[in-house]
Amino acid sequence: MKRILLLSCLILASVALHSQETAKATVSEAPVQPSTVKLVCGPYLQNVKSDGFTVMWISDIDALGWVELAPDDGTNFYYTDRPRYYDMTGAGINPLSKIHTVRITGLQPGTRYRYRIMMKGLRAFNGERDITFTKPFGANVYSANPPVVTTLEESYDKLHVAIVNDVHADAEGFRNLFKDSRGKYDFVVFNGDMTSVINEETHMAVYVRPASELFADETPLYVVRGNHEFRGLFSRDWLKWFQTPTGMPYYTFQWGKFFFIMLDSGEDKPDNDIEYQGMLSMDQYLREQADWLKGVTRSDAFRNSSVRIVFSHIPPRLKHWHGNKNVCELFVPILNEAGIDLMVSGHEHNYSLCPAGTSNANFPVLVNDNLELMVMDIDGKTISFKTSDPSGTQTHKGSFPVVKK
Ligand SMILES: [Fe+2]
Ligand SMILES: [Fe+2]
Repeated sequence: MKRILLLSCLILASVALHSQETAKATVSEAPVQPSTVKLVCGPYLQNVKSDGFTVMWISDIDALGWVELAPDDGTNFYYTDRPRYYDMTGAGINPLSKIHTVRITGLQPGTRYRYRIMMKGLRAFNGERDITFTKPFGANVYSANPPVVTTLEESYDKLHVAIVNDVHADAEGFRNLFKDSRGKYDFVVFNGDMTSVINEETHMAVYVRPASELFADETPLYVVRGNHEFRGLFSRDWLKWFQTPTGMPYYTFQWGKFFFIMLDSGEDKPDNDIEYQGMLSMDQYLREQADWLKGVTRSDAFRNSSVRIVFSHIPPRLKHWHGNKNVCELFVPILNEAGIDLMVSGHEHNYSLCPAGTSNANFPVLVNDNLELMVMDIDGKTISFKTSDPSGTQTHKGSFPVVKK
């Protein structure tokens, strides 16, 4: 009898211990539910066209995001319900994510629109009928004016644009370059190496946040990938932060008859270099891009354009690094045949203006220094530029005639 009692006690003690451990595990494994959702950076504009534009922003936790749109007609934003646009990158299922990409469509050309970003953070998902959200977040339209976007006109006589490259995560230097830039430029180009290594999920906020605060919520932003944007675990997310017209890092865009080609010049060393540990297939990727470039130069839009400017982070240089060699061998022959007015590059952390024929390019190549602002004026006859350092001191200037097509 004693034995039976002892055995029962042992069993009970073991059950109690087990349930205590289970309870402990349940408590420690229960996810901490956030009560608010915060804006990490944004909003910033992508892919602005005559009939629509894309608004992007980043939240600190997974969230459902949407944009409210209002005409710029003098009414208060709270005057009436504003139409909502959701993130369609989920192909019909509204994404619950940190990166928000909302396309506004069906707009009129050359027209001003106001917008407001909204989101609800995800607290718990227990099936579609049982989703818990944080308190909603809405951009302030009560005591501040909402950002205004102007859709593209059908044609332009001139453009006033800003270009920067090789910022390498210097947020303060970046802020100095763009401190007076609100509403100043038709568009802004980031020509690669905006950071050095993308090791954290939100590292790119180091320049995207100041950009959105200073201009990019109202001024179209176009990005080019630099060789440093291939580095770090989260470099694989680079393209998720931007929406290009092709869905690839290489793409084209037009402002009237002004045609821009944004190339991805890849890494600077050969694929089998010890630094890459077999993680790159750059040569194949660049060959595929060259096939795409051939198609671009044969398109009616390109053939009918009046000014053609190419952006490539790495410039063409003969007998130089592998990245330069790729640009010389894969892209320049196609561009030579097509007729290009100018290539704008960075990468070398030194200013240079290389006339046609310096490399195998039959067009001039303009290399901007690191962390210098290049402001470019483009009309049907001339492309002129000025560069300045973060203190605002002018460093270089020049101009190129537009080649008759
Ligand atoms: Fe660089
Ligand atoms: Fe570079």
